[in-house]
Amino acid sequence: MPGRPSASRRTVLRGAALTPVAGLGLAACSGGGGGGGAPATPTAPVVLGAESEVAKGGAELYQDQKVVVSRSEDGSLKAFSSICTHAGCAINKLDGTTLVCPCHGSEFDARTGKVLRAPATEPLNALSVEAKNGKIVAGPEA
Ligand code: FES
Repeated sequence: MPGRPSASRRTVLRGAALTPVAGLGLAACSGGGGGGGAPATPTAPVVLGAESEVAKGGAELYQDQKVVVSRSEDGSLKAFSSICTHAGCAINKLDGTTLVCPCHGSEFDARTGKVLRAPATEPLNALSVEAKNGKIVAGPEA
């Protein structure tokens, strides 16, 4: 015959419920079809790297600065924001002169900023760019 445990043994488990909900973490581009433009372009000139890094006919992606620079065959430079105009993801892949957005697969031409593949429909934001003392400097469009 088991003796009943006396009812005095209350388990009090308060406090455990106070854990905050973490995890707003990496919802990088949940989308929402925003529109509203993708402003994240440099607001002041930024130095990207050595001029020699961008070959004629080639392009270079500067992920930290969120800028892509390309050079035409005649040697002139062009720069665009590498923020995707679809839902604002930072583009992290450059395949030759084609930028590929990791979020929904839009592709852009790094030489013109034009959309090569949907869902994006707007071209990348153009930036001003120049070579100064052997360095590439990009900034807001003049
Ligand atoms: S944010 Fe959707 S394709 Fe780039």
